[in-house]
Amino acid sequence: MADNTLIIRQSLVCMTDGQLRLGDVLVRDRLIAQVADRIEMNADTEIDGRGLTLLPGVIDPQVHFREPGLEHKEDLFTASCACAKGGVTSFLEMPNTNPLTTTQSALDDKLQRAASKCLVNYGFFIGATAANLPDLNTANPACGIKIFMGSQHGDLLVESQEYLEPIFASGDRLIAVHAEDQARINQRKQEFAGSTDPATHSIIQDDIAALNATKLAVSLSEKYQRRLHILHLSTAIEADYLRSHKPSWVTAEVTPQHLLLNTDAYGQIGTLAQMNPPLRSVKDNAVLWQALLDGVIDFIATDHAPHTLEEKAKGYPNTPSGMPGVETALPLMLTQAAAGRCTVGQVVNWMSSAVAQAYQIPNKGKIEAGYDADLVLVDLENYRPVLRSELQTKCGWSPFEDWNLTGHPVTTIVLGQVVFDHGKLDHTVRGQALSFGR
Ligand code: DOR
Repeated sequence: MADNTLIIRQSLVCMTDGQLRLGDVLVRDRLIAQVADRIEMNADTEIDGRGLTLLPGVIDPQVHFREPGLEHKEDLFTASCACAKGGVTSFLEMPNTNPLTTTQSALDDKLQRAASKCLVNYGFFIGATAANLPDLNTANPACGIKIFMGSQHGDLLVESQEYLEPIFASGDRLIAVHAEDQARINQRKQEFAGSTDPATHSIIQDDIAALNATKLAVSLSEKYQRRLHILHLSTAIEADYLRSHKPSWVTAEVTPQHLLLNTDAYGQIGTLAQMNPPLRSVKDNAVLWQALLDGVIDFIATDHAPHTLEEKAKGYPNTPSGMPGVETALPLMLTQAAAGRCTVGQVVNWMSSAVAQAYQIPNKGKIEAGYDADLVLVDLENYRPVLRSELQTKCGWSPFEDWNLTGHPVTTIVLGQVVFDHGKLDHTVRGQALSFGR
């Protein structure tokens, strides 16, 4: 059978060195075949990229997509539609579903579900409990081991050193930690019991709680020389700590909301701003930005964690923590680039290349011949607000509604297939399971 060819003509292509260069990109089946100033052939599909910028698809390394068990909030189909619209062509999903992803069979179940309904590429974490050590290093394919050191989800809490040590001591797979000190949080919850102000959330789960857990995780990683990734770094004191104490085998990520929102958001959007780890101060925003620019923080994740508006209306402290993010992350960061806070090349590194490198995902995160054709064409010429009516996430809201952003995706391509184009999704497109080096 003849190859299927697609050419994206005359867009500004983000090259591997981060520079933007006008050119044509030829895709043959699932792979990028050629990147050149002009490609003299006719393809089966031709996309006019004039006035647009072509980036590698976003790889979102931390999402909570709720299937199985919590499908009233989101499912793998609706979440992957939101990904396609947001330029996210691959995601790594967390184990706090129901049942929890703590065994090979639970992982297999998720992989099967994703194969049948995901419009983009997918990978899943295996979750650590105090009792599933053997599964943690044998479950395959998994992008890594997720440890909730704080912010409990059923059995998914490993807070004491007694249970953490054996996990760090055995195997060599990447360990990703939600670093909050649960004992401190429990104590402070009692101190602030009775408060119905959602801003209390950031006071209870304070920066010391985050720092204590980050320090413990780094010390265990050093003791056992174990690959460690710190999820959603949220505080200035953690960033300052890592600036002087970050071994070369440790990576860290930050979310757009921890860069761009702070505790003022409680006054504007109430419990929609409630997440774990919580939003912090304006100073934390600034220190996290600088740490990202300086490479202390390696990349960006959305921590897409949808809850329904009904659940968010219950009133603090009975409200769940978490906010959606896959549809807004790329335009949020490109808007920062347009404002001169960073370059488009840096955004691509933080949202694609550095993630592929950290998780050793082969063939992704660059626009180069031989790489997978996971691509997103964005419009950096116009600004448009984030509208609730356009959201694909099942939860149906965003903390960034009405923010006027540039860099919205126009066309998203997964493995050479156009999955999103000018506002329309192709629901028949399917992604594939990601593979991970060790
Ligand atoms: O705010 C959060 N919500 N943080 C997490 O780590 C989990 C998430 C969720 O699953 O709702």
